Amino acid sequence: MRLTRYFLPVLKETPAEAQIVSHRYMLRAGLIKQAAVGIYSWLPLGLKVLRNIERIVDEEQQKAGHIPLLMPTLQSADLWRESGRYEAYGEEMLRIKDRHGRDLLYGPTNEEMITDIFRSFVSSYRDLPKTLYHIQWKFRDEMRPRFGVMRGREFLMKDGYNFDVDRDAALEAYDRHMVSYLRTFERMGLKAIPMRADSGPIGGENTHEFLVLAETGESEVFYDSEILDLELSDRMVNYEDPDQLKEIVSEWTTPYARTDETHDPALFDKVPEERRRSSRGIEVGQIFYFGTKYSEALGATVTNADGQRVPVEMGSHGIGVSRLVGAIIEASHDEKGIIWPEGVTPFHVGIVNLRQGDAETDAACAGIYAGLRTLGLDPLYDDRNERAGAKFATMDLIGLPWRITVGPKGLKNGVVELVSRRTGESEELPPEQAVEKIARIYAYL
Ligand SMILES: Nc1ncnc2c1ncn2[C@@H]1O[C@H](COP(=O)(O)OP(=O)(O)OP(=O)(O)O)[C@@H](O)[C@H]1O
Ligand SMILES: [Mg+2]
Repeated sequence: MRLTRYFLPVLKETPAEAQIVSHRYMLRAGLIKQAAVGIYSWLPLGLKVLRNIERIVDEEQQKAGHIPLLMPTLQSADLWRESGRYEAYGEEMLRIKDRHGRDLLYGPTNEEMITDIFRSFVSSYRDLPKTLYHIQWKFRDEMRPRFGVMRGREFLMKDGYNFDVDRDAALEAYDRHMVSYLRTFERMGLKAIPMRADSGPIGGENTHEFLVLAETGESEVFYDSEILDLELSDRMVNYEDPDQLKEIVSEWTTPYARTDETHDPALFDKVPEERRRSSRGIEVGQIFYFGTKYSEALGATVTNADGQRVPVEMGSHGIGVSRLVGAIIEASHDEKGIIWPEGVTPFHVGIVNLRQGDAETDAACAGIYAGLRTLGLDPLYDDRNERAGAKFATMDLIGLPWRITVGPKGLKNGVVELVSRRTGESEELPPEQAVEKIARIYAYL
């Protein structure tokens, strides 16, 4: 993409309404525009990041053997009356009437609807296990929408639901979700710690929240610093192997890590003092095992191996896809702007032309741009007639992890400059080598 042809409405002023850094940078870098309180348009650059996050979530769910489908945003109130949640959900649920006076609602979550789909088609344990998920917009009429997309009213969520014949199988699904979530967040360059949490209104017995540490987080968290050293990195995970999943889960759930809701000071005191940490965190995901709560209410039963009809065992598992855009920025920025991890960056690399209009410099930029695109990479070329300083400021603000700077001085020696946004380190190398290096960083070569 050439910047002169793109739609990147960067703001010079810091918007007064934004209280936290991610919200400020999302507005300033032209990622979002507020449409109504807690409701946002995703501008082109923001949409690219959102889609990248969505793609990682989707890929990792499919690797775990989970099956995508798509349920609507609007739901009939009848199903929610069956589960008893139509009344229980309270003011957070946006209730709507259609022209015939029928009650609809904008889904805040999908347990009822997925259980209805399941009960309509599945009746035997032979069809289990199944985990179905979708990535769909939700609406919750939050009391205090704030911090931009972090606590919106309309937000994008991945929600998945497992159906299993018995408790053991459902707990295996729980482990599978925990591991797939660890992988998902790692691919986004995030450290998200699973913490024992409280089950709240959805109800259930086993639940973990995944928290990204950040001062601006809304949850208070307590943890053993050892958990920060854990990484899946390039470990091979076999989702068909319950013992391996159990092992990984136990590795991550052994060190103390809890939110204030389940915090146990006596237990925490057993952690060596120098490893005891308390801070704040952003909830980016949550997994639940809740057994037969919804299947009993909605009559979703299967025949088991003994021929008896039993309510199906379930759990639900969510990731805050749109919240993640903000959470990643909270975890990765400096005073100049965003620093995107390679896994989610909207463009792989920025090209800055220091002397727009100079035939040789323009040609070198065009060559680099074409070279990157031929390899399948997605560069952003700043071809505006602007001072170098303004171009650098824009690149720093929008946070592309790599920048190639092209100017007449370097070209005289046959080199361009390749700069890392994160470290600021720069290196001079011939244009073809800069292209090759970028391609290697992103594993396109
Ligand atoms: N208002 C919101 N705006 C953006 N993302 C949200 C919002 N509410 C929930 N999420 C995201 O969706 C995920 C799954 O939803 P879940 O039902 O667990 O939310 P929750 O526990 O009610 O969230 P919170 O405690 O932050 O209100 C959460 O982990 C979070 O990342
Ligand atoms: Mg939650």
